[in-house]
Amino acid sequence: MNTKSENIHPFNQLLPRESKERLLNQRAKVLWFTGLSGSGKSTIAKGLEEELHAKGFFSVVLDGDNVRTGINNNLGFSDEDRKENIRRIAEVAKLFLQNGVIVICCFVSPTEEIRNLARTIIGEKDFVEIFVNTPIEECEKRDVKGLYAKARKGEIKDFTGVNAPFEIPTNPNLEIQTKNKLVEQSVNKVLEFCIPILNFQF
Ligand code: ADX
Repeated sequence: MNTKSENIHPFNQLLPRESKERLLNQRAKVLWFTGLSGSGKSTIAKGLEEELHAKGFFSVVLDGDNVRTGINNNLGFSDEDRKENIRRIAEVAKLFLQNGVIVICCFVSPTEEIRNLARTIIGEKDFVEIFVNTPIEECEKRDVKGLYAKARKGEIKDFTGVNAPFEIPTNPNLEIQTKNKLVEQSVNKVLEFCIPILNFQF
């Protein structure tokens, strides 16, 4: 617990979440994508955002590489920094959530502890864990950012899947296997699962 937050008196929101959800005609959720670097999280998220937008849903995407160039540019990849990375992101996601927005989060979030931290901050009923299950050999073959090659040469320390752990999620709400699939097939699978719970009438 952060002991620095003394003498702080957060005010209650003037408008409840429900009113904003009604305005937007949707239910807010956090769709939390977890998986190895290069597994396809961001690509699926981009397609998902486009499809949701076309169907009249208002969402925002928070993505590892983007967040780490801005709000979290002082964090690296030690266990401690990854935890702080996810803690801040989960708090940001919660702010959007409380304002009726669907939040699509794409973070490696490699351990049960880290994912549980996010789940606890956001709240069990609003946290939808989506495991993008792409075998490491496939991620490494794609190696879009050239990071696996660098990690194998020892140029990146603590690289998830190479010299830092990735714990397989034990009970995700949804699992997407991307190997030999088109991006749109993966996007459709997520949509099929999510649309019913994003509907305001739900
Ligand atoms: S997390 O572990 O803290 O959840 P996050 O999703 O924010 O990671 O960032 C992962 C992205 O940072 C990867 O997609 C990759 O592009 C880049 N990256 C750089 N170094 C590492 C590393 N050591 N381990 C994993 N990803 C890394």
